[in-house]
Amino acid sequence: MSEHLSGKTITIGDWRIKPVGIGTWQAGSRMWGTSTAEEAINAIVEALSSGLNFIDTAEIYGWGRSELLVGEALRRYGSDDVLVATKIAGCNARPGYVVKHAEASRRRLGVDAIGLYQLHWPPSIYTDECRIIWELESLIDKGLAHMIGVCNYDWDELEKILYCTRKYEIVSDQVEYSLVQRAPERRLFETLRKHGMTLIGWGTLAKGALAGKTRVDNMARLLDPSFYAAAKNWELQEAIREIAEKHGVSRAAVAIRWSIEKGAVPLVGLRRRRHVKSLVEALGFSLAGEELERLDRITRRYLGRGFTRVAPRIIPNIIVCAIYRLFL
Ligand SMILES: NC(=O)c1ccc[n+]([C@@H]2O[C@H](COP(=O)([O-])OP(=O)(O)OC[C@H]3O[C@@H](n4cnc5c(N)ncnc54)[C@H](OP(=O)(O)O)[C@@H]3O)[C@@H](O)[C@H]2O)c1
Repeated sequence: MSEHLSGKTITIGDWRIKPVGIGTWQAGSRMWGTSTAEEAINAIVEALSSGLNFIDTAEIYGWGRSELLVGEALRRYGSDDVLVATKIAGCNARPGYVVKHAEASRRRLGVDAIGLYQLHWPPSIYTDECRIIWELESLIDKGLAHMIGVCNYDWDELEKILYCTRKYEIVSDQVEYSLVQRAPERRLFETLRKHGMTLIGWGTLAKGALAGKTRVDNMARLLDPSFYAAAKNWELQEAIREIAEKHGVSRAAVAIRWSIEKGAVPLVGLRRRRHVKSLVEALGFSLAGEELERLDRITRRYLGRGFTRVAPRIIPNIIVCAIYRLFL
């Protein structure tokens, strides 16, 4: 079990949270198909009321819509002690633009300062990355953000940008991490540990397939290789089902708990109230040694998968943003 875990909380930078985050891409994006704003807001409020205190969103999810829904949930529940994380799209991260984008996200969220402001993916190779990091650092001085983080950086890229920081630490790296995407275990975990950083995992449920949802019914599932990997792995599906049954929890809770036991802070996409229970269940039980070994053995082949990239760095930012605008 991770040394970062202490009791039922974990730290990101200097912020102590429950080690499961509420993911909100689902709440605002066309790629996920229909769900009403009210449904998503209610699910977030319910999760906060259940004691979860970490929410992740991004300016690109529904181009501001997800941030607005999170903002509404925070207005209804209250934002005290909630770590609110959002992101600037890698393609919007151009020198001179970071402060403007952070200010717009802060307004949509309705908070005084963004808890964790993240760079959503490494920008194109034509961008001066150090200047982006300096502008991210300036957000802390301006009181717009409390902490800064990155997403989708593999260990070698991370080592390079850490040299850019002048004044503040980059506290986290948010990457795809699940039972069917274990590439971060090769070098990234070790690199993050060395620098006192936290791995925040996305794709925890492989778009629901690790929770037994194996029908392709929206674009997000259609386009995700991890969804198919999980949906077609019957040995894994069976192991999750048996372990869940033994502990009296949902299958989703088993997949979430596995990620916690590995030392990550898993994000779980949430837009339905009935799914909140699984997030809470994941905090209330532990996987036995032999259960972890069984899951690790069945999923060993996914250690060899390529690290997940969300945008090829060779493509100019403007083209990447145009493509994402069509889908997200
Ligand atoms: N940094 C990045 O590049 C990046 C990329 C992707 C995602 N993310 C973040 O990570 C979050 C989660 O990752 P993800 O979007 O890949 O999704 P995920 O967590 O792997 O899957 C979420 C989906 O699983 C289903 N689900 C959730 N709980 C369930 C339960 N208890 N039982 C059955 N099904 C359940 C839901 O499907 P239905 O809603 O259809 O019911 C939900 O939308 C996102 O919301 C976002 O905040 C970040």
